[in-house]
Amino acid sequence: MPSASTESSATPPHGKPSPDFSWAVDTAVVHLGRPPTLPGEPLNLAITPASAYVAGGEVEYARDGTTAMMAVEQTVGVLEGGHGVVYSTGMAAASAVLDGLVVGAIVVAPPHLYTGVAVRLRQLNQEGRITLRPLMDSTGEVDVTQFTGAHLVWMETPSNPMLDIIDIAAVTQLAHNAGAQVLCDNTFATPIGQNPLALGADYVLHSATKSLGGHSDLMAGVVVTAQPVAAERLREQRVLLGSVPGALECFLLLRGIRTLTLRYERAHTSAQLLAERLAGHHGVTKVHYPGLPDHPGHDIAQRQMKGFAALISIDLGTAERATELCESTKLWIHSTSLGGVESLLERRRRWAKESPLVPDSLVRLAVGIENAEDLWSDLDQALRSLTPTPS
Ligand SMILES: Cc1ncc(COP(=O)(O)O)c(C=O)c1O
Repeated sequence: MPSASTESSATPPHGKPSPDFSWAVDTAVVHLGRPPTLPGEPLNLAITPASAYVAGGEVEYARDGTTAMMAVEQTVGVLEGGHGVVYSTGMAAASAVLDGLVVGAIVVAPPHLYTGVAVRLRQLNQEGRITLRPLMDSTGEVDVTQFTGAHLVWMETPSNPMLDIIDIAAVTQLAHNAGAQVLCDNTFATPIGQNPLALGADYVLHSATKSLGGHSDLMAGVVVTAQPVAAERLREQRVLLGSVPGALECFLLLRGIRTLTLRYERAHTSAQLLAERLAGHHGVTKVHYPGLPDHPGHDIAQRQMKGFAALISIDLGTAERATELCESTKLWIHSTSLGGVESLLERRRRWAKESPLVPDSLVRLAVGIENAEDLWSDLDQALRSLTPTPS
């Protein structure tokens, strides 16, 4: 188990004595961000539904940042080894980083990214706000010529929904050599599976809506950066952009994080088992999972990840069969999210804005924490019930 040891100057909430940053990560997730352990104090963060506070204290107005937000920021900051800034959603977190770019900034991005981010990058490009350049050349190799003059290299690994792997350390080195900063969307791997800041990245992004929250009951996003000045700038700008999470969301998010290591370990272990079985299933045309030895990014993933995360994408040969699968499972729920305790699946191309590079016959499986054999039986029965692949 890696250590959560990090230098973090995040203000401890409630003037709490500094937590022990030498804790292993599975201890850190349980204890970070709590009120001080003093007689009479509650163990958990209070849910304080207040927009305004009596003048003269640390917090005056909720949009400026609350104790609950600070507790989340301290916790995720330590887990990722930097300074956390929390937002109302993952997209708000992504938008905050993009908002901080100078007008005309060059942003280099891979072909596969979460749809919302990809669409926003294209919009900003069309508006002339940024210039968007491709990270890969036509052979799928990183195209370092695109880094010249770049401000930001955006990466997502494993990527949504193709589960492509990018070598974070290598690409970061190339980007830094060219004077560009690097952001890595770490939503799929979670801070337990991968720490991009430790590999050199400048920013880590999380849709905390997913695995950090872990129960499909909240929306939030977090940016973590090793640079305190950058974190402070993001916080100041957040006051103006107004994208802050509410008290209940912060409470639920911290509660979800308490079990993050257990959930991640269970879900990625089940995902590995399911991916291996799916690879041998005659009803499945192709399996995308970085934990499989024939995945093109397997060796890199093995180097930079712990576990291969809990998302698997499978190709069913036709869009009809993919849709049928989503309608034929009884335990797996047909739904668009991921990272929750419950297993979900969906055909990503049912969304009009999903990239045409994603096959329309692809189904993304988000593995939860149920019994792996139950998950397999349900998938297997659903796969057997599908219309046969046209020969
Ligand atoms: C990889 C990734 N990044 C960012 C986001 C955006 O997060 P949110 O839905 O919390 O705005 C998502 C949402 O699915 C995602 O999958």
